[in-house]
Amino acid sequence: MNLQHKVLLSLFWFLPFLVNGQSTSKAESLRKVLQPYFVPVSHDYEELNTNKSKIDLGRRLFYDERLSNKKSVSCNSCHDLKKYGTNGSYFIGSKGKGNSSRDVPSLYNLGSLDMFNADGALTSLNDKLKQAFTDSNEMNVQNINQILKQLENDAKYQSLFKAAYPNHSKSISFEQVIEALEAFIIGLKTPAPIDSFLKGDDTALTSEQVEGGHVFNSKSCYSCHTGSNFGGQMIQKLGIAEKWPNQKDLGYYHVKKLSAYKMFFRVAPLRNVEKTAPYFHDGSSDDLGSAIKLMGRHERGMEISEADISKIIQFLNSLTGEIPTGYIINPFN
Ligand code: HEC
Ligand code: HEC
Repeated sequence: MNLQHKVLLSLFWFLPFLVNGQSTSKAESLRKVLQPYFVPVSHDYEELNTNKSKIDLGRRLFYDERLSNKKSVSCNSCHDLKKYGTNGSYFIGSKGKGNSSRDVPSLYNLGSLDMFNADGALTSLNDKLKQAFTDSNEMNVQNINQILKQLENDAKYQSLFKAAYPNHSKSISFEQVIEALEAFIIGLKTPAPIDSFLKGDDTALTSEQVEGGHVFNSKSCYSCHTGSNFGGQMIQKLGIAEKWPNQKDLGYYHVKKLSAYKMFFRVAPLRNVEKTAPYFHDGSSDDLGSAIKLMGRHERGMEISEADISKIIQFLNSLTGEIPTGYIINPFN
C-alpha cells in the first residue's frame, strides 16, 4: 500500500466517526432534555403473568356489548384497540350540554397518566372506569345492578370470576368488574422507538427525528407535553396565547365552575398521535401538521414554519409503537 492509499484509507475510517460523533452528541443532548421526566414504556411480563386471570376477565368485559344500556356498544366500539384505542372520529354525544361531544381518546399507555378525560376531571383510572359505565357519552348504563345480574347468570363469566377471585361465590360486584377492566387496560402498552432511544440506543431514532426532538423542545412544546406520555400530567389553558376558535366546551370550568378555569384542558398525551386523528377535545383538526400549526399559534403565539412542522412530525412519529395484537384478541370472535 502506498502512502496515498494509506491517507485515503485513514480518511474513510475517520469520516464516519466524525459524522457519527456529531449525531451522537445531538442524540445525547436530546436524551438529557427528555430523560428527567421520563419512564420508558415496556411490557411487564411478570405482571401480565400474575394478573392473567383478571386480565382475561377484563378483556371479555371490554368487548362485551351487553354491558351498555341498549346492549349495542362495547368499550371497543369507540375505543377500537386495533386503531390505537380510538374510533378515528369525533364523537357527538347526546347530552346537548357544553361537554357533550368530545373526541375519543386512546386507551394505550394509560397506566402512567395522572388525569383522565379531555378536561382532566378524574385523577384515578378506577374512578374514570366507573364513569365510563354511567356517562351518557360512553356506556350510558342506567342500572348497574341489572348489568351485574346479567353477568351472574352467565356461566362463562362465572368461571372467569372464579378464576380471578378465588373466594368468589355467585354474586359479582361493580368493584370487581372495574378492577378486572383496569388490569386489562393497564396492560395496553405500545413501547416505541423513543423508549429504546431513551434507554440508550442511538440507532432507535433517525437523525431527522433527533433533530425534530430538538425543535419540539426549542418551541417549548415539552414544557407542557412532558413526562412518559408527552402529556397527561397537567391542565393548561387552550388559547393561552391566542383565543381558541371553538368556545363551546369550556373544559375544566364545567368541573369547578370557576371562571379562571375557562378553556382549561388536559395537555393531551402524544404517544401514537400519528395514528389518532382527529385532534383536540373538539376534533377540530384532521391532520397532525395543522394540529402543530394551531398549537404554535394558540399556545405559543408563534407561526411555526412548514420546515419545522415536518421536523416535529418526524419526532412525534418516534412515539408510535406497535399494537400488541396477541393481547387484544377479541374473545367473542
Ligand atoms: C360511545 C363511545 C364510548 C364508549 C362506548 C366508551 N367510551 Fe370511553 N370515552 C369516550 C369519550 C368520548 C371519552 C372522552 C370523554 C371526555 O374527554 O370527557 C372517553 C374516555 C375514556 C377514558 C379516558 C382516557 C383518557 O385518556 O383520559 C377511558 C379510560 C375510557 N373512556 C374507558 C372506557 C371503557 C373501559 C369503556 C367500556 C366500559 C368505554 N370507555 C366506553 C367514548 C366512549
Ligand atoms: C401551554 C401548554 C401547551 C404548549 C406550550 C403546547 N401544547 Fe400541545 N396541547 C396542549 C393542550 C392543553 C392540548 C389539548 C387541547 C384539547 O384537548 O383541545 C394540546 C394538544 C396537542 C395536540 C393534539 C393531540 C391530540 O391527540 O388531540 C398536539 C399534536 C400538540 N398539542 C402538539 C404540540 C406541539 C407540537 C407543541 C409545540 C409547538 C405544543 N403542543 C405546545 C397544551 C400545550
